[in-house]
Parts: sequence; C-alpha cells; structure tokens
Amino acid sequence: MEDNLSPAAITENLNTHFIGHKVIYYPSLPSTNESARKEAQWGAAAGTVVVADEQTAGRGRLSRTWLSPKGSVALSVILRPNIAYLPGLIMLASLAVVRAIDKTTGLKAEIKWPNDVLIKGKKVCGILIENEVRRNTLAYAIIGIGINVNIHLADFEDIFPIATSLSDEMSKAVSRLEVVRQLLMQMDKLYLDLPNEDIIYEQWRNNMVMLGKRVRAQSGESVIEGLAESVGKDGSLYVRLQDGILSRIVAGDATILRR
Ligand code: BTN
Repeated sequence: MEDNLSPAAITENLNTHFIGHKVIYYPSLPSTNESARKEAQWGAAAGTVVVADEQTAGRGRLSRTWLSPKGSVALSVILRPNIAYLPGLIMLASLAVVRAIDKTTGLKAEIKWPNDVLIKGKKVCGILIENEVRRNTLAYAIIGIGINVNIHLADFEDIFPIATSLSDEMSKAVSRLEVVRQLLMQMDKLYLDLPNEDIIYEQWRNNMVMLGKRVRAQSGESVIEGLAESVGKDGSLYVRLQDGILSRIVAGDATILRR
C-alpha cells in the first residue's frame, strides 16, 4: 500500500485552491506545529503544510503531550484568515478530519467538544490550533492535526482504554497518503465556506457527539457537571447545571459521563 508522505506524493493532482500547494516533509521532527510556526514567522504562504512521519515531542492541548509514533499522521497547516473567522477555523479542522476519515475508510467519526475526533467513543484524532495575533489582526494560525492511522493501540497501554486508530477499527492498514490528501482537500473545500459561518457551524454541531448527554467540563480551575445542551457559533459549549443555570464554557475540555 502507498504509504509515502513525500511532498511529490501528497501534491500529485491534489485538487485544492491553495492548501497543500507547498508541503514540507520531515521523517522525524519534535513537533510539526513548532516547525510550522517558524515557517509562518519566516513568511510561508497560507496553505503551506508541514508533515512528519514521526514526532518526538508532539504537543497536545492544555499543555499535554501527543504521541506520534511511526504509522500516525502528524501535520500542521499554516493559514492566514481574517481574525473574525477564527471560531469557524476551529470547527473546520475537526469537520475536515471527520470527512477525510469517511472518504478513506467509510468509518463514521464524531466530534467531541471542542475538536477531538472519536470513533465509537474513543479518540482517533487530536487538534491543536495555535495563533499569533498582532494588533487585532491574525498574523497566522497553525492547525495541527494528529491522527492515529496505522497504530496498534494495544501496544500503548496508557492510552489504550481511551484511544483507537483507523487500522484497529478496520482490522487492516489504511493509506496514510490517502488520509493526508483527503484531509487537505476537505480543509480546502471547507475554507471556502468560512465567510458563510452557518454552513460550517451547523455541520460541526450536527457531528457533535456530546449534545444531550451528561458531561463534566473543565475550564481553567473550574469543573462543572451537567447536560451538554448546545454549542454556540463562537465555539462555546453550553451546559445546563443541576440548579437550572446555563453555563457557557468558552475554552477547555469536556468528557461524557457514563452514568
Ligand atoms: C490534543 O488532542 O491534545 C491535540 C493534539 C494535537 C497533535 C498534533 S500532531 C501535529 C501537530 N503537532 C503537534 O505538536 N501537535 C499537533
């Protein structure tokens, strides 16, 4: 199976307007987000992609680490949209992953707020978006995406109970090249919809796994439990607390409670 993530393989007949027109590949890298940040500061064009076969210091959300052994996909895309589109950009990333997984494997993935991607309740993809804002202008946004593609999760006992991979779900290897190419094409398509925020918002909300379920949500030091009622166009999660108050969480993490 084709598993070569070289720029030539990724860009061959890639049907995009700008995403993936330039691809920078490394066999091994501490973090594609860190490398993309440097490229962005040196003036890399919007749509530039940094991809690695393996990361040695992958970064996760909320100062966590992200495991990216060989067989996974780790890539970062440099974008330079208007700052008003930042909430849409966060939604776009997880939606593009859901669509790319469907196109390459037929698996139905779901989004867990804010932008984890799950299959049958287990995490298959994490997304880390890092921006630089200068005087109310978005200098750049880095969309970092890590997908467990060909990883045997039973070999990673710490995350085995909560994570899965495309190959574990399919019981066979999956083409990382096809996953990457689909991901870039889906991101490019969705990017064109950014000015029409309702399109992306509604699809993001419709693919959200936790609405109507009891959740524990954490934002900074504060932890709340309640019913995940809705998500807002700005990307916030609304949780109905036991006393009836509707709490809005702008940033943080949430887990579905199984009771
Ligand atoms: C999370 O779920 O905590 C987010 C994980 C994001 C991981 C990706 S892999 C590519 C990019 N480079 C990084 O160092 N992190 C992101």
